[in-house]
Parts: sequence; structure tokens; C-alpha cells
Amino acid sequence: MHKAVYPGSFDPVTNGHLDIIRRASIQFDEVIVGVLHNSQKTPLFSVEERVNMIKSITSDIPNVSVQAFEGLSVNFVRSCGAQVIIRGLRAITDFEYELQMAQTNRVMAPDIDTMFLITSLEYAYLSSTTVKEVASFGEDLDKFVQPIVAKALRRKLLGNEL
Ligand code: PNS
Repeated sequence: MHKAVYPGSFDPVTNGHLDIIRRASIQFDEVIVGVLHNSQKTPLFSVEERVNMIKSITSDIPNVSVQAFEGLSVNFVRSCGAQVIIRGLRAITDFEYELQMAQTNRVMAPDIDTMFLITSLEYAYLSSTTVKEVASFGEDLDKFVQPIVAKALRRKLLGNEL
């Protein structure tokens, strides 16, 4: 069984994340999306909300599951019985941080490898942070996130259900 974990904050999950999840699900027998519960940070969405949104938008992909985790990604990967960490790379600006993280993870867990999927061109600009900013101005979010995520953003940031 070739299993991979896709860890992240997913605050909230974007169409770019979904594209990486779909593509990873083709390459691996099983993909576990790991949603980081970081008590040092205050995300817009609770870890339960983030997990549930990802579960909902990946319900049609049979070999994808979603779990919250705390602590180091490599420990979560081991607890899942997986061998690979998946990360998406959008641009050169992501590279330094991702390289540092992958190298650190590799020193801590030489048995686990990080594999990068290059973000599809249409999502190369997209981030959870920019989506939240656009959402806060009430703009249309259809190109950036799935409808249930757009609805959750509007509810959270604008207090409406439109
Ligand atoms: O979506 P993000 O915020 O870019 O994801 C970052 C994440 C969650 C993958 C990273 O912060 C992480 O792995 N955090 C857990 C702690 C850890 O394992 N750090 C790596 C060693 S530097």
C-alpha cells in the first residue's frame, strides 16, 4: 500500500489544494489530508470546520481521507503508516520555505520523503490568505474555492448566507 499524507493549514481549502489532492490520489493508493491544529495560531476556521469542508469536497474521491493532527508532520505521517509527504509548489517564492521544511523533515525522519506537485497554472496565484481577503470584501469566490467553502467564508466574514 503506497500511502501519502498531504499536510497543511487549509484555512480554508482552495481549488489549488483540491487540484493537488486529486492529482495525488491518482499517484497513490491512499492519500490522507492532514489538517494542522496549531494551538499557537488563531485560524479563521476551527480544525473541525476545516476537516469537514475538505471531507465534503473530496467525498467523490474514494482513496482520500481527512484527519486533524497536532505536532510534527513526520510523526503524523508515521502514525498513518505512510511513507510520503505531498506538498504543492506554486512558484519560486514557495521554494525556500518548502526546501527548509523538507530538509528538516528528512533529518528527523529519513524514511519519509517529500514529493512536490507543481501547482496547475490556473491556480498558481491562489492562496488561502488572498481568498480570505477577497471574501472579506464580499467579492465572488467561485474561481477560487468550492461553493461550500465560499458559503462558509461569507458566513464567517460577512455574517450572511448569500
Ligand atoms: O498550509 P501550510 O500552512 O503551508 O502548511 C504548513 C505545514 C502544516 C505543512 C507545516 O507548518 C507543518 O508541517 N507543521 C507541523 C510542524 C512540523 O512538522 N514542522 C516541520 C518541521 S520545520
